[in-house]
Amino acid sequence: MQHQPPARDLPASWPPERTAWLNTGAPMPLLGLGTFRLRDREAVRLSLHAALENGYRLVDTAAVYGNEAAIGSALRELLPRCGLSREDIFLTSKLSPRDHGEAPTEAACLRSLQELGCDYLDLYLIHWPGTQGHPQGDKGNKERRQLSWRALERLHESGKLRAIGVSNYTIQHLRELLASCRVPPAVLQVEFHPQLAQSELLDFCRQKGIHLQAYSSLGTGQLVGRPEVVNVAERQGRTPAQVLLRWALRQGVSVIPKSASPARVAENSQLWNWDLTHADMEELSTLDCGKRYCWDPSSVA
Ligand SMILES: NC(=O)c1ccc[n+]([C@@H]2O[C@H](COP(=O)([O-])OP(=O)(O)OC[C@H]3O[C@@H](n4cnc5c(N)ncnc54)[C@H](OP(=O)(O)O)[C@@H]3O)[C@@H](O)[C@H]2O)c1
Repeated sequence: MQHQPPARDLPASWPPERTAWLNTGAPMPLLGLGTFRLRDREAVRLSLHAALENGYRLVDTAAVYGNEAAIGSALRELLPRCGLSREDIFLTSKLSPRDHGEAPTEAACLRSLQELGCDYLDLYLIHWPGTQGHPQGDKGNKERRQLSWRALERLHESGKLRAIGVSNYTIQHLRELLASCRVPPAVLQVEFHPQLAQSELLDFCRQKGIHLQAYSSLGTGQLVGRPEVVNVAERQGRTPAQVLLRWALRQGVSVIPKSASPARVAENSQLWNWDLTHADMEELSTLDCGKRYCWDPSSVA
């Protein structure tokens, strides 16, 4: 579903070519900062500062990362220093798999808002289709995540969550959700890189107007040394990380690379005004083998 951007909705510091449009009609930056395993307050502050200075306008966190309070406090300090306000930042958090169900979801979301020190989130995702403490094949997983979604729909309608979505859902999980929801998911966040190109899932999301956001684009750092990626990077005069991130953007998929190093945060932001060629994409497509660096949700009932 394509939405024509009403100009007034796009913050001045978000260039249109670096912005996706969600099925809610809201803009979302195509580049964000990932923060998994970034817990130390000073490390969060340094990474976030480098990100804001290098044009990142999206921050991805989750209750399970244990860093929402550190991110909230760093944003309160850094936004005014960078001449930015809350409205310039797209903030995403996620429901912990231990908090599925209607009342626990509502409480968890309000807790995240409090930790981050915000009145609203731009996006809130169900982190995982299963419930922690229950077997993956447990049939109750389906009902619990439906109850969670009902709570998210209400929080969306109240304005506390400007968009709602899911993470680590398969096509089957999405079909179930689409068949029972009042508000369709705006975003699906999944592991996505040349070794896990997920073309069927990407096609499905495109058909249904769900924006795909990639996580672990760098294969948690392990893909940057692959000879095929290094070859393309040398041909393009770019770094392997930039090639991996551009590979997703070229398909309309947004990216949220994580780095604790300010230099790498800067490197990972140089993604604009150049592109991969068809031959580069062909070479990278030879890597597609279904490899996951994170978790596989396909056995969650
Ligand atoms: N929804 C989910 O279930 C889920 C799962 C995983 C991740 N995520 C989100 O997606 C974000 C990104 O995924 P990720 O953290 O798993 O992995 P990633 O972004 O693919 O890779 C991060 C790793 O790569 C290294 N790195 C970063 N930039 C680099 C560069 N330019 N050159 C070489 N190495 C580089 C980092 O090390 P340094 O920090 O030392 O630079 C870090 O170890 C997460 O932080 C999180 O926000 C979501």
